[in-house]
Amino acid sequence: MAKLLASIKGIQGYVPDYILTNAELEKMVDTTDDWITTRTGVNERHILKEPGMATSDLGKVMVERLLEKTGTAPEEIELLICCTVTGDMRFPDTASAICYKVGIKNAFSYDINAACSGFLFGLTTASKFIESGTHKKIIVVGVDMMSSIIDYTDRATCIIFGDGGGAVLLEPDDSGNGIIDSVLHVDGAGREFLHMKAGGSLRPPSHETIDRKEHYVYQDGKPVFKAAINGMVDTIQEIIKRNHLTLDDINWLVPHQANIRIINGVAEMLDFPKEKVMINIQKYGNTTSGTIPLCLWEWESKLKKGDNLLLSAFGGGFTWGTSYLKWAY
Ligand code: UT7
Repeated sequence: MAKLLASIKGIQGYVPDYILTNAELEKMVDTTDDWITTRTGVNERHILKEPGMATSDLGKVMVERLLEKTGTAPEEIELLICCTVTGDMRFPDTASAICYKVGIKNAFSYDINAACSGFLFGLTTASKFIESGTHKKIIVVGVDMMSSIIDYTDRATCIIFGDGGGAVLLEPDDSGNGIIDSVLHVDGAGREFLHMKAGGSLRPPSHETIDRKEHYVYQDGKPVFKAAINGMVDTIQEIIKRNHLTLDDINWLVPHQANIRIINGVAEMLDFPKEKVMINIQKYGNTTSGTIPLCLWEWESKLKKGDNLLLSAFGGGFTWGTSYLKWAY
């Protein structure tokens, strides 16, 4: 019997219906389809447009479908972690709203705010509850409604981000398949390059913060770009080394989808074959906490039991890291 691991027993992605194309963005800001495609790799992104709908409504659909697909009753779930930077409200958390909307009544829940690395931080945290033997069924949701914090007159950010994400069901596994290791980091010095200036305790909302458009994503793209490639490559190399692997052992690299040039840069620096890199940024843009589960969901039918996966991300904070797992079904 191998060590008890937390393994993914089901994955469910979801994006809202409305598709915001590059052609539509060309009419909204001074940009071109060619610039967006070549500089970011994004062709379109999905946006939640319905009034009164929020991040927890996206999460609700994912979790309901995940429960149905895995034959799990809501009452069986013991913990739900929602990774997001666009919670419905400043407080309370969005995880408890999802539980309420889905009818999960026997769980505790909380949010993790680690920006684009959120899903990795959530997955790693959840796996410890399973490994310790205290919990047997946990859901981790990675979801963001980035359109709620994007300034659609700012061409530097509005072209990148989209709404959506995915949810996984974690259960104990003693066959050697599951989440094996994670290398995770933070560096608060990075927060000056990617943040939302107002709305928190530092700059509570005021007429001034609204006039200055401080309730939107601010990004100084170049330093983030550079740090992202280095952070992902370093943690991939570290995890490969300490688990006595080679890159040839890896069946799939699942990178956060922030920019096609970042993904290609990581693959090139590692000399890792492009065919084994999951890429869907062209369809969804950067959904922040949502990109990695959205990839896993789209590739689910191609994944085989025992496949070695590296999940790697970099985001606001800065936060970054890589998780190594063996696919369990
Ligand atoms: O997911 C969380 C972590 N985030 C990331 O990893 C994002 C990292 N950063 C990036 O992906 C890139 O830096 C961006 C996509 C955000 C920007 O790409 P860039 O190649 O760094 O462009 P830039 O900001 O240096 O701008 C280059 C030029 C500028 O014009 P000048 O100064 O050369 O005349 C911009 O004004 O492109 C201009 N530009 C645009 N032109 C057309 C910026 N945005 C646009 C636009 N359309 N949408």
